[in-house]
Amino acid sequence: MLSYRHGYHAGNHADVLKHLVLLGLLQKLLAKEKPFTYIDSHSGGGIYDLNSAEARLNTEHASGISRVWHSRSQDPLLNLYVGRVRDLNEDGRLRWYPGSPTLAADCLRADDHMHLLELHPAELEELRYNHLHALGTDDRVSIHQRDAFEGLLAITPPEPRRGLALIDPSYEDKQDYQRVLQTVVKLHRRWPVGIIAVWYPLLARQRDRSVWLKSALSRENLPGLLAMELTLHAQDDEFGMHGSGMLIVNAPWQFREEMQLTLTALVAELEDGCSFTMDAPGTAVTKG
Ligand SMILES: C[S@@+](CC[C@H](N)C(=O)[O-])C[C@H]1O[C@@H](n2cnc3c(N)ncnc32)[C@H](O)[C@@H]1O
Repeated sequence: MLSYRHGYHAGNHADVLKHLVLLGLLQKLLAKEKPFTYIDSHSGGGIYDLNSAEARLNTEHASGISRVWHSRSQDPLLNLYVGRVRDLNEDGRLRWYPGSPTLAADCLRADDHMHLLELHPAELEELRYNHLHALGTDDRVSIHQRDAFEGLLAITPPEPRRGLALIDPSYEDKQDYQRVLQTVVKLHRRWPVGIIAVWYPLLARQRDRSVWLKSALSRENLPGLLAMELTLHAQDDEFGMHGSGMLIVNAPWQFREEMQLTLTALVAELEDGCSFTMDAPGTAVTKG
């Protein structure tokens, strides 16, 4: 039974981190002329209305995109991300927020391909609507109504062979941590050249789960493993999700260095006390 709806969380600090990393990885793939495949295992609806009742319930975007929307940062990746959000809001008022399929769709060239997987019927309907009306219908995009973990393995290795898979579960089901681990290991075996990006939450009450996922993945000898975490508040049960992380397998050359600059620029825009780590705890850059 799927109850998670991303509309309640769209544009929050976790989306900002995830979507910056996603755009950064796509830029790396775009740097070569050879075509690539992008796979979004948990696609969501594609575009979110920040004026909707869901988004207004906790106004989570106040800790994320609303903070960086007016950014005048010189960082190229942060600028690119903010520019994509501005493109969706031509009247200068922040209302529409692009999900991962929309951000990726804007990057596709003529021979690139995108697979979008989603199970929730309402999210699928949104995704199909947005594909028709906003992302543009074309045969570079395949939408699959199927389980993310099963579907990811079934459609890999993809053609074109170069590419990126974003794994972005809601972790409502605690089995998701185990399924992410098993899927990443199998996916890498089937598709050794694929870049894999996994999002995970930092939850005060379930801290052990993200720690477990990171250490379990680090024992698998996966190449080019990189972990980045963005933390907003000190750990406190009241806050629920106080930050989130991205784990990358096959991180491209110099991606770590570029993300270091982008996340430094990002924490300068977010609330006082936020910080990020790269690779391992102990290298935190804190604002305020
Ligand atoms: C965090 S949201 C995705 C947000 C999206 N990736 C973005 O960044 O815009 C997670 C999505 O996964 C979907 N989902 C949950 N379990 C799934 C499963 N087993 N297979 C496919 N989709 C699933 C949910 O319906 C939800 O839309």
